[in-house]
Amino acid sequence: MSKDVYTLTSPEGKTTELPVRNGTMGPRVVDIGKLYREQGVFTYDPGFVSTGSCESEITFIDGDKGLLMYRGYPVEQLAAHSSFIEVAYLLLYSELPSADQLAEFEESIRRHTMLNEGMLRFFNGFRYDAHPMAVLSAVVGSMSAYYHDTMDVNDQRAREVFTHRILAKLPTIAAAAHKLTAGQPYVYPRNDLSYSENLLHMLFAVPAETYEINEVAAQALDLLFILHADHEQNCSTSTVRMAGSSGANPYSAIAAGIAALWGPAHGGANEAVLRMLKEIGTARNIPKYVAKAKDKDDPFRLMGFGHRVYKNFDPRATIIRDMCHKVLAQNGQQDAPLFELALRLEEMALKDEYFIEKNLYPNVDFYSGIIYRALGIPTSMFTVMFAIGRTVGWVAHWREMIRDPNGRISRPRQLYTGSQQRDYMAIEKRG
Ligand code: CMC
Repeated sequence: MSKDVYTLTSPEGKTTELPVRNGTMGPRVVDIGKLYREQGVFTYDPGFVSTGSCESEITFIDGDKGLLMYRGYPVEQLAAHSSFIEVAYLLLYSELPSADQLAEFEESIRRHTMLNEGMLRFFNGFRYDAHPMAVLSAVVGSMSAYYHDTMDVNDQRAREVFTHRILAKLPTIAAAAHKLTAGQPYVYPRNDLSYSENLLHMLFAVPAETYEINEVAAQALDLLFILHADHEQNCSTSTVRMAGSSGANPYSAIAAGIAALWGPAHGGANEAVLRMLKEIGTARNIPKYVAKAKDKDDPFRLMGFGHRVYKNFDPRATIIRDMCHKVLAQNGQQDAPLFELALRLEEMALKDEYFIEKNLYPNVDFYSGIIYRALGIPTSMFTVMFAIGRTVGWVAHWREMIRDPNGRISRPRQLYTGSQQRDYMAIEKRG
């Protein structure tokens, strides 16, 4: 392989020179776009382990070093100094905002927080015990029925209004999904509050009494949203890009991303971690569950452990673990034993040969649920909280995809292993 060309020779001796692309960071990428045309073969890579699906300037991960950067800024620096809304601006517009730009952006997000009143009636059609992720994906999908003035993906102004709208309304929809299950009246947004404070207000205020915002709780949510804001081509983001690549309206593309996020191998893991910790119950049972996770004949996995990209540690898990101490000190003494159990589980798993050899470390979902629980957020809402943070990442990727001059509809190929051609047989002749 020369620096810029990867030469591939088929068993028949046909040689194809494939261009090699260099990103600003990360491994070089072989552009195989002409491989089928020239050699008549497809590549096969289930789970896209070695396949880049697009070019992107948004987020960079170095899994071996445990590095995560948004637009070049290490996530640790953003977590320490920034706010979620500022990070959202950075992801969407490539640069950190000036004070005026930030104020204007914040103001615009505040002014879009209310839902069309008709949408609130839509909520009443769900069963009282519907999972909030089911409600969230359905309601976000239904936004294309309420806000169809912003569905032209080629209209820059429409894309801008959509962006502000979805970012502003996600917490309102999420809180309404919670109120539906809690059997409480929906709470309208308060535009004098910050993004995370307003979410707490809509989740927990009731008409019967005044709700005091807890500042540590608001800080913790803001931090979690920063850490969940983007993670390059993960399953849900790739889903948004794929759905959007057909030219589908952006509300539908985001609803598709929410559906993908729900799975336990992805954003659903934070809910699964809490259920797992409750099932383990006490430190005495940890060895039994670690053994189950290692047993190939047992489908049980340590939820919140392992990652496709991080093979050293997940920097988000480290930051969240530190925040757990702060939140529990103020809000959640009753959850301290659960946190203690999680710490013991991490300690024991990280000493285990199986986890060491396979590079399995706690991921972003391992500790986040402990914070949510201490804040009084029910387990079924955990993945919804993930979705609130990740929406800006989905939108940033959707916007990048729409503007990509090389963008085409996503349409993978396959290795077909079904029947060869055969003829239809009348039903009475079939055995
Ligand atoms: N517990 C026990 N064994 C595990 C675990 C685990 N949590 N994760 C991976 N392994 C084993 C797996 O059995 C496999 O072993 P072998 O090579 O012997 O077959 C090996 O480690 C590699 O795992 P994989 O499933 O091939 O890796 P992947 O990159 O396809 O999957 C993952 C990554 C995150 C889906 C997986 O580690 C997992 O299922 N973890 C638990 C669920 C979870 O915490 N998901 C949240 C991911 S981070 C946030 C997000 O994306 O939303």
